[in-house]
Amino acid sequence: MGPFEGRSISVVRDLSLDEQLYLFQKTREIKKGLKQGEDVEKYRIKDLDLAVYLMFLEDSTRTKESFRNAARFHRVTVIGFDAGSSSFNKNESLTDTVKMLVGYNQRTVFVLRTTLEGVTRHLETYIGEYARQNGIWVPSFINAGDGRHEHPTQEFLDQFTFLESLDWRRDFIHLALVGDLFHGRTVHSKVEGLRIYDKVKLDLIAPPDLEMPVQYVEKMHAYGYEVRQFKSIDEYLEISDKARLWYFTRLQLERMGDKIRDRELDLRKSVTLVPAHIGLLPEGTKLYHPLPQNRLYPEIPEYLAATPLNGWDTQSQNGFYTRIALLGMVSGKFGSDFNGRLREQVSYEADFIHEVTVNTSSKKEDFKTGIKLLSDGTVIDHIGIGLSIPEIWRLIDLIRRKLGLDYKSSHGVFDNSSGSHVKGIISIPGDFNLDDRQVKMLAALSPGCTVNSIRGNNVIRKIRLSVPPRIYNFSEAVCRNENCISRTQWREPVQSEFYRSRNRDTFVCKYCDREHRFREIWENL
Ligand code: NCD
Repeated sequence: MGPFEGRSISVVRDLSLDEQLYLFQKTREIKKGLKQGEDVEKYRIKDLDLAVYLMFLEDSTRTKESFRNAARFHRVTVIGFDAGSSSFNKNESLTDTVKMLVGYNQRTVFVLRTTLEGVTRHLETYIGEYARQNGIWVPSFINAGDGRHEHPTQEFLDQFTFLESLDWRRDFIHLALVGDLFHGRTVHSKVEGLRIYDKVKLDLIAPPDLEMPVQYVEKMHAYGYEVRQFKSIDEYLEISDKARLWYFTRLQLERMGDKIRDRELDLRKSVTLVPAHIGLLPEGTKLYHPLPQNRLYPEIPEYLAATPLNGWDTQSQNGFYTRIALLGMVSGKFGSDFNGRLREQVSYEADFIHEVTVNTSSKKEDFKTGIKLLSDGTVIDHIGIGLSIPEIWRLIDLIRRKLGLDYKSSHGVFDNSSGSHVKGIISIPGDFNLDDRQVKMLAALSPGCTVNSIRGNNVIRKIRLSVPPRIYNFSEAVCRNENCISRTQWREPVQSEFYRSRNRDTFVCKYCDREHRFREIWENL
């Protein structure tokens, strides 16, 4: 079994940088082999018990057909799933559908394109578990574009294409992204895809309505990219230091609200290349586009197809070779000669519990239950710091319910000792301690709170909780992205789950990568 067998690709970073470079290396060998008529037999999987299921629930030509042909190259079984006449129309869930399909073949690779975001991550988790429990080969799920989120296989072929034009040098890339940077998933995937270069200079060209979402721009900065933003091609062409590689995307009208769509022609103007621009392009410019182009309003004028500016035809051909390599990897055919770094498994240390030294000589804290002084018991203090009074009351209620605090006890909202803010307190008398599960839940619900254990009128232990690395198992925690597969309205069996971001300020949805401030996760707080 190769290091990539059974792996799913939901986002670009599901392959480590070394794994991406390996993919490019394999792609290069296969492309050369096919172009030069060499013997490519050794690259084929040749196994009819392996099925590649093409589940395209959104339109596609290039991605779907290049995967179909890549699968044919491998001499495996290719199945085109007919979404239009399937039981989706009888309201069957996608999860149930896929669960059934994994039983039909010995090994399955699913290639999915969906409007909902995070679908392949969900299936990887859910169906992966099901397959392991039932002794079925764990299928791979490849994201072929999910809503506005990501399009990792397009990213791999784009980077392969750029590398080809840079003669495989990875020390520096200067790239212009032009068009609908707000809705286009292919440009969102660039943030991660460009990490293979030592130095990245990125020019973002889009009118304000179609600007790159700020969370992606922030990430680009965090990765050390030099980023410049321009409102139109006209504005960009005035500067002297222009990119030689231009990447266009079409206006994603199907993802726009009516308000923006009404201004379509205006928006187009700022990101459409016209004959007057051509003379201003730097020497050796190459134009790329994931395609399709709108035939009525092409972003790149048709006549340029027959000029050296045309980089997009090679780019779309590269989709075929890259996908051959990717299928070879996730099926286990390629990988025995890989000796780079594998994708890192994230570990979640329990670093959210901090012991606070209890100073017995200083002034004693007097905790109460109701009006009675508490001599023995547990007090959860500093609940909901920073929230409003009604929010703290709701939070107290949520904490009591989730932790199952059905004991004789009291709670309330009070001023803190200096009177600078309000806080909630829950006080439970008796020989009672929170267990690990309750502590974890409490940290997720109210980071910053303290848990005081009181025995014989003394605080014998005090812990302060900070935000945990992972929040899961709470039906009250909800991703704000309406198009995320984890939202209950989509009726798929998905539990929402969030990861603390590296800078610890935000929480990222496991499925669609939407970032949230801590409070945003909690519904109705
Ligand atoms: C892109 C996509 O579907 O995201 N197309 C593609 O896969 N080649 C870009 C687009 O639809 O504009």
